Amino acid sequence: MEQATQKVLYSAVQPSGNLTIGNYVGAIRNWVKLQHEFTCFYAIADLHAITVRQIPAELRRHTLELAALYIACGIDPEKCTLYVQSHVSAHAELAWILNTITYVGEMERMTQFKDKAAKHAENVNMGLMAYPVLMAADILLYQAHVVPVGIDQRQHLEITRDIATRFNNRYGETFRIPEAYIVKEGAKIGSLQDPVHKMSKSDENPNASVYMADDRDTIIRKFKRAVTDSDNRIVASEDKPGVTNLLNIYASFKGCTVAEAEKEFEGKGYGDFKLAVGETVADALAPIQAEQKRLLADKAYLSEILARGAQNAAYAARKTLSKVQRKIGLYRGE
Ligand code: TRP
Repeated sequence: MEQATQKVLYSAVQPSGNLTIGNYVGAIRNWVKLQHEFTCFYAIADLHAITVRQIPAELRRHTLELAALYIACGIDPEKCTLYVQSHVSAHAELAWILNTITYVGEMERMTQFKDKAAKHAENVNMGLMAYPVLMAADILLYQAHVVPVGIDQRQHLEITRDIATRFNNRYGETFRIPEAYIVKEGAKIGSLQDPVHKMSKSDENPNASVYMADDRDTIIRKFKRAVTDSDNRIVASEDKPGVTNLLNIYASFKGCTVAEAEKEFEGKGYGDFKLAVGETVADALAPIQAEQKRLLADKAYLSEILARGAQNAAYAARKTLSKVQRKIGLYRGE
């Protein structure tokens, strides 16, 4: 009953492996809180992942690992719909239809397309270009009210709104126009080696990012090597991006404010500070990693959760897809 009055929230992560603590603080951890306020659909976007070359066995493994991680982080599969995008064929079907009302020029102008096309110059495939259209299909199928998106996905949400509006204008009211959901909490986490830039899943420098799967020693070592500066004061300020980043990380894992963290480390040296940050992150990740491992040992349970999620999602998605098919004149029988 509660569900009928709740707004719908949609989000997804690609199973490209190597989620960082930045993805955790910036996305997954917030999703856990949002599941109480919204009717949530959380997808594992495997069809998006294949727009760059994947090793099949790894894609399969990363998909299951991500499902286990979602649950280990506190996503409750009884409360939300947790599923794998490719298990619901409506995504690909709606994406095809939306392709026909999306212009090549619009897709060529997308920042992420230009970046990825430059990075994967040997594989600028049609899927890479139509990536935002598939994302629009994801969101629009569920008539989502809100989509929590980071800055790098903002442009994709804008194009989703454009596509939905265009469809509605041409064929009549069909899609809800989704809004960006701006998450209040959760500082942006920067690279440990180049803290003015975001911590990235695909950084070539292995010391730049802390991964959700890193063990305790690795985490502590990476924080020890984090770049700071030479003035040895533990305060957050614009001219101290390294120290500020570490303070942000500490505060978000400890559950305190940056001001409280500054006070705690007043008079301490960088060595002690970095060790404390490393230990705090390692302590926070340990139970998540243990739970993920436990879940991965129970493949039957995971498959069951994902099958139920797909069934739920397919039911909701089919309603929208049928409407779209009718509106555009695909013959559905008498
Ligand atoms: N493109 C998103 C990312 O890489 C993942 C994604 C796929 C997504 N479909 C979505 C996010 C729909 C929000 C809504 O982060």
